[in-house]
Amino acid sequence: MHRRLKRIHEQYNDLLSVSLAGLQLRNPTMLASGFLGISQDVFNRLYRMGAGGIVSKSISIEPIEGYRNPTVFSLEESSYINAVGLANPGAEAFSREIASNRNVPIIVSLVGSSDNEFPSMIKKFDGLNILGYEINLSCPHVAKMGMEVGDDPEMVCAIIKKIKSNTHKPIIIKVGIGSVDVVKIAQVAKDAGADAITAINTIRAMAIDIETMMPILNNRIGGLSGKSIKPVGVRSVYEISKNLGIPVIGCGGIFTWEDAVEFMLAGASAVQLGSVIGYKGLSAFTTITKGIKKYLERKGLKSAMEIVGLAHKY
Ligand SMILES: Cc1cc2nc3c(=O)[nH]c(=O)nc-3n(C[C@H](O)[C@H](O)[C@H](O)COP(=O)(O)O)c2cc1C
Repeated sequence: MHRRLKRIHEQYNDLLSVSLAGLQLRNPTMLASGFLGISQDVFNRLYRMGAGGIVSKSISIEPIEGYRNPTVFSLEESSYINAVGLANPGAEAFSREIASNRNVPIIVSLVGSSDNEFPSMIKKFDGLNILGYEINLSCPHVAKMGMEVGDDPEMVCAIIKKIKSNTHKPIIIKVGIGSVDVVKIAQVAKDAGADAITAINTIRAMAIDIETMMPILNNRIGGLSGKSIKPVGVRSVYEISKNLGIPVIGCGGIFTWEDAVEFMLAGASAVQLGSVIGYKGLSAFTTITKGIKKYLERKGLKSAMEIVGLAHKY
């Protein structure tokens, strides 16, 4: 084991470590899918910078080139609208990229159009040092993938059952705001055997340049992320966690330790950081973790898990 990584690994501490669906994380912060998510060197760096877990970019069976620029638009320094188009190197190349992983807690995000695409992808990753899978059923701007699959309860069920019969590793289903209620899709996922839910993905959105009178993104429609979506994320986590009792990972506009604590009180056992990385850089992991630690100490608590879902009482 790399000596520096070993030291970091030993920093697991009872106060901050969390467990959900069989995953043990040294702290509740994870990298959200789609941010810096395709290089083992970067994963090593993110782990050294304090991430408790890392979710890869969503990987498909074949490489995807993605949309042409502009693909990302920054809104009021706190939110993005993006339509990257799930650009990724494909399962074969990405499995070679992370084959050397030893100690970094990587969760591979997978995306596909039908249940038949998942077994061959799982086969490439299952023997590697990864914690499990997050299945992206909620990207809102790619035809026949993501949300178009996630809005079809029968397909959601078929995909999860197919994946479950091909791996013993935990599977986390990432849901979002589509045409079917987020709690209903989470219920379908739970019934089909999902181990945990990540909520939420970006929300369909658009921006138009008033001078050129044209949509700003090449794809016209994109997904909104960042501070603008936080209350929707908190509501989704609260409703899924309270009604279904399944472990939930919170995501959507988490910029500060206060945001992370709010998501945990709503029922999240861990939180994912996405847009904040773009605005504040990788130091967000330690800033947020330190803030959570001080909060727990101030409240006289012994474990971060103690605050998960406390707001359900009200
Ligand atoms: C540029 C960009 C690319 C993204 N790519 C993915 C992806 O490949 N798979 C996925 O599940 N979510 C993807 N997301 C969604 C994020 O993982 C996250 O759910 C969303 O941005 C909300 O979190 P945030 O407000 O902290 O950014 C992407 C988001 C952005 C902005």
